[in-house]
Amino acid sequence: MSRGIFITLEGPDGAGKTTQIGFIREYFQSLGKEVIITREPGGTAISEKLREILLDKNNSEMDDVTEMLIYAAARAQLVAEVIKPALAAGKIVISDRFVDSSIAYQGYGRDLGDQVRIVNLSATAGLEPDLTLFLDIDPKKGRERIGKDVMDRLEQEKMDFHYKVYQGYKDIWENCPTRVIRIDADRPLEEVKESVLSTLDTFFGGIAGPGKN
Ligand code: TYD
Repeated sequence: MSRGIFITLEGPDGAGKTTQIGFIREYFQSLGKEVIITREPGGTAISEKLREILLDKNNSEMDDVTEMLIYAAARAQLVAEVIKPALAAGKIVISDRFVDSSIAYQGYGRDLGDQVRIVNLSATAGLEPDLTLFLDIDPKKGRERIGKDVMDRLEQEKMDFHYKVYQGYKDIWENCPTRVIRIDADRPLEEVKESVLSTLDTFFGGIAGPGKN
């Protein structure tokens, strides 16, 4: 079986990842590809239960290491149950967040450092995205796009936390220039979409051919 393509979207809360994922889906479907969309934390029955624990505002006592491990556990289940089988079947897998989120939020935001990367090597069994789109928006602007009343446990953290996360994303982008492509997300939707689609053309423009994997 041929291996599919694994694409992840990353960036601060409110960067517009979910909207762009819809456009990416259409792009590959128009090439006759089968697309699986997933989100983190979540994407399987077990991982969605872990998501509830992670995002519940009442869990204010959660230890930072506990948080890192639950994100990794949710990811391990998603990789094993959904992502690996789909890639093995030649499908296109698009994930709203993946390991880079843990590196940025837990590694930088919570100051847990390199242990996050190591724990996640185990969670993903070494699986890496073929392409990561970093939707770059200043965290303050991203935050203004989310209604205050719908913020989850992570989103309601202080701005200082979100700027540390943002620094994490910028470092990841600098350290992985071939895998991670930065898209300026502080622009009208259509312009962001154009940049996303032209990046897909650059990376995968040659895969056209209806129904063939
Ligand atoms: P997400 O579902 O992307 O929230 P939203 O759709 O509202 O942007 O992610 C939930 C929160 O979890 C988000 O604030 C980022 C955080 N997060 C981490 O801290 N570590 C991780 O590994 C992941 C995947 C997400």
